[in-house]
Amino acid sequence: MIKLGRNDACWCGSGQKYKKCHYNFDSKIEQAEREGHEVPTHDLIKTPEQIEGIRKSAAINIAVLDYVAEHIKAGVTTEEIDRWVYEQTTQRGGIPAPLNYEGFPKSVCTSINEEVCHGIPDKNIVLKDGDIINVDCSTILNGYFSDSSRMFCIGEVSEEKKKLVQVAKECLDVGLKEVKPWGFLGDMGQAINDYAMAHGYTIVRQIGGHGIGLEFHEEPWVSYVSKRGTEMMMVPGMVFTIEPMVNMGTADIYEDEDNGWTIRTEDGKPSAQWEIQVLVTEDGYEILAY
Ligand code: MF3
Ligand code: CO
Repeated sequence: MIKLGRNDACWCGSGQKYKKCHYNFDSKIEQAEREGHEVPTHDLIKTPEQIEGIRKSAAINIAVLDYVAEHIKAGVTTEEIDRWVYEQTTQRGGIPAPLNYEGFPKSVCTSINEEVCHGIPDKNIVLKDGDIINVDCSTILNGYFSDSSRMFCIGEVSEEKKKLVQVAKECLDVGLKEVKPWGFLGDMGQAINDYAMAHGYTIVRQIGGHGIGLEFHEEPWVSYVSKRGTEMMMVPGMVFTIEPMVNMGTADIYEDEDNGWTIRTEDGKPSAQWEIQVLVTEDGYEILAY
């Protein structure tokens, strides 16, 4: 990184002098780095213009999931959900980010019961009474990425599955409390893991959240089994997802060998996940997509 002079134009593009803009901000980051913390590079700190672009992308993602919420029910196939997502996204000028992403064949991930994530929509998969399903949507608009997912309970769902879905949602609130500038991602990770464990659940270790905005998956990788005071420092302008996968039984998972995507719990017990996309602000956070 080139060291700017105090009177140089700030790296953020504001047009202001560095000393009047991100000088103190960078000093804080450099201090943390000297203390041995992981810190974000400048390209992970979004400008106001980029944040506005991400917000507009996120508005589509939210609308698409709202549409799914209104229409999802027993008897619907996951292929139909895929079609809704494709149509609702493109009608609003967006592109579904999963489509052709590293070869993913569909516009959305649909993960039912013991499927942890990355379920592939299929015309032969019919939602039935008692299922729980995660619908994970991601949108590209003008090059800006958004990503969020929600759980849906189909018809009469058992009390124990309902509880899992509820606690997985509460994990986001617990995590959000820890999202503030100059804190650490591990503060959030530990809070979420502690909360899930207190309810007798486990958190998937190998798959986590991610930075997002100019790419689908940016640095940092975000763990929800991390420890307070560790992992990357959170600074204003960072955008990342909170998306812990909460398992009723073991935390262990495996990948479907045939399709190379779908992740399932090792013990076949249910898993639940909600995902939001957040921006770190000067005094806390803003939820961009849910
Ligand atoms: N939406 C997922 C996430 O939260 C990524 C899915 S990648 C895909 O990161 F290719 F499977 F869509
Ligand atoms: Co994500």
